[in-house]
Amino acid sequence: MIVPETAFLNGRFLPLAEATISIEDRGFQFGDGVYEVIRTYRGQPFKLNAHLARLDRSAQAIDLRQPFSSDQWADYVKEGLRLAAFPEAKIYVQITRGTAPRDHAYAPDLQPTVLMTIRELQPLNAGIQANGVAVITMKDIRWGRCDIKSINLLANVLARQQAKDRGVFEAILVRDGQVTEGAVSNVFIVRDRNLFTAPEGAWILSGVTREVVLDLARHEGLTVQERYCSEQELLEATEVFLTGTTVEILAVVQIDGKPIGRGQPGPVTLSLAKRFLGKTR
Ligand code: PDD
Repeated sequence: MIVPETAFLNGRFLPLAEATISIEDRGFQFGDGVYEVIRTYRGQPFKLNAHLARLDRSAQAIDLRQPFSSDQWADYVKEGLRLAAFPEAKIYVQITRGTAPRDHAYAPDLQPTVLMTIRELQPLNAGIQANGVAVITMKDIRWGRCDIKSINLLANVLARQQAKDRGVFEAILVRDGQVTEGAVSNVFIVRDRNLFTAPEGAWILSGVTREVVLDLARHEGLTVQERYCSEQELLEATEVFLTGTTVEILAVVQIDGKPIGRGQPGPVTLSLAKRFLGKTR
């Protein structure tokens, strides 16, 4: 049976519209949970193992018991894709600490709420991909564990909304003068044949796409440095681009109203995007 808009809740597949959880779920009340977003290329989940490994790391970091092994998750993802039968899909996986009367501290024996949704993937508009995007910079006001893919996304939500209100695609976050990442993406800075991106650690999410792009960049013969860049270096870059499951490799052509390089996607970004296309399509 084909069930579009498929959900998976606590071990059972059902139509998305029928999937409900308790209002006392700690995810709802405290944002107490972790998540992953995975997409397919040619119907196959891209870098599934890396996403599932990160899900495990996030869960462990918040002392949340993962009810399923990565192998079980991989089977559920594949079963969900088969049921939903979209040409390309966006898979959302979320685990919260479970349902209990509201209290900040939690009991050790709570049953986590586990859910997955499978929606049709809406690819980025081709014009956006070809022409690049404008972004703004904003103060990074997030907490000190941005490496955990927590569902508690309030600072990211406010940053992305501010970008939207200003008519641009993304907000690049700056902490103490250093560029960390975007509200929904990692940030790469190009200076001639040198590529810079913030190092893994507490201030960024270790993006799965980031890792793929670092690998492609080394094959491209670029000098790669995982180090912080100042806001000044960002604005004076020859090229800037974003990476992420939903944005892939996306050129940034304007920051805070000023052009980057010649104000159009540059050769390093285009070459990496071509390599990425070769890997995914
Ligand atoms: N976000 N940094 C942040 C803050 C993110 O939210 C994301 C992805 C990334 C890129 O990570 P990856 O390459 O593994 O997708 C970096 C997802 C797509 C989201 O929240 O919808």
